[in-house]
Amino acid sequence: MNVQRISLRNFRNIAAAELNPCDKINFLLGDNAQGKTNLVEAIYAAALLKSFRTRNSAELIMEGEEQAKVAIGLRKQQVDNRITVTFGKQGRDFLLNGKRPETNAYYRFFNVIVFHPEEVNYISSYPAFRRNLIDRSIFYTDFSYIDTYRNYTRCLKQRNALLKNRSVGVDCWQEQLVGFGATIIQERLKYIDRINEILKSDAFQKKSSETYALSYSREVTDRTTIAAQLAAEFSRKIEREQALGYTLVGPHKDDVRFSINTKEASSYGSQGQKRSLVISYKTAQIADYKKIHGDYPILILDDMTSELDRGRKNLLLENLLENSGQVFITSTDYQPSQRSEQVRVFRVEAGEINLVN
Ligand SMILES: Nc1ncnc2c1ncn2[C@@H]1O[C@H](COP(=O)(O)OP(=O)(O)OP(=O)(O)O)[C@@H](O)[C@H]1O
Ligand SMILES: [Mg+2]
Repeated sequence: MNVQRISLRNFRNIAAAELNPCDKINFLLGDNAQGKTNLVEAIYAAALLKSFRTRNSAELIMEGEEQAKVAIGLRKQQVDNRITVTFGKQGRDFLLNGKRPETNAYYRFFNVIVFHPEEVNYISSYPAFRRNLIDRSIFYTDFSYIDTYRNYTRCLKQRNALLKNRSVGVDCWQEQLVGFGATIIQERLKYIDRINEILKSDAFQKKSSETYALSYSREVTDRTTIAAQLAAEFSRKIEREQALGYTLVGPHKDDVRFSINTKEASSYGSQGQKRSLVISYKTAQIADYKKIHGDYPILILDDMTSELDRGRKNLLLENLLENSGQVFITSTDYQPSQRSEQVRVFRVEAGEINLVN
């Protein structure tokens, strides 16, 4: 899918902007605090109906205004679609080709994947972030995974409440927890396998200065065996769980590890290496999406180039030219050497956006 036109009104510091991105790589260049992230945030918010940097959508509205508006022309499977999303002080509204679609159907329709710089540190520091990264990636390829995930979380809450109050009936949640938990673990393992295959494929290896891989804290892939393992872990831990008042085993405690050249990324990787790793993960994610859905989602790389040396930046760009669909990249300093039909450069200055080439 491709964004063919973006039009913004009163979105953060952007009073009004119109741009026609190209179908491949779009650079948004400018100094700090000019509106680069605001622009990519607008594209993301049009798809996800929320921001990647704030929970409070009212922040998206330009100070002193009542409403922020993002209009997008989206070409998908050779069909042109009109999308309009407005963020008001009381909430948001969205239209697809003039009609209000069902929310879940809309999420399935318009897919945007973002990389933002904080992810580089999160990936080293928070197991919950690593699990969440994988879970959110699976949502994009298997929308039913959301239901399994929600069911698991609901059962976990109930079981924890019983454990905390030392009430009886903990066992009855256990069976459901094992069922949903085994599905989640199996889906995660399958997903990690697919991503590893892509990361080690020739297409990726040629464009990388090192090797990246993911691993999971469990290895068995057969669902019945995973369920049996979980059930056995529950029986072993129940006394401690009752003493502590919460559930100690299950996918919410498992870990996903990222490695660079077979060594653990969080302890071994430099800042630039970790940044390359996270961006490669996102590129593998969109390649996997393409295998499943037949076309690429939109990829946003916010502040992609800082901390990367010239060689890494060039490799990354070559990888994107070969293995991606439409990409939006913000940067303060990048000077793209390629000027072709596949690369378009916009300058962002004080909330105004102009085409450079
Ligand atoms: N609701 C708002 N109304 C008006 N201006 C806003 C609003 N929210 C944010 N801004 C302003 O938008 C400006 C630019 O923000 P943005 O994050 O897009 O910068 P950037 O170009 O990505 O910079 P950097 O290179 O530092 O990441 C900031 O100066 C901020 O004060
Ligand atoms: Mg920024």
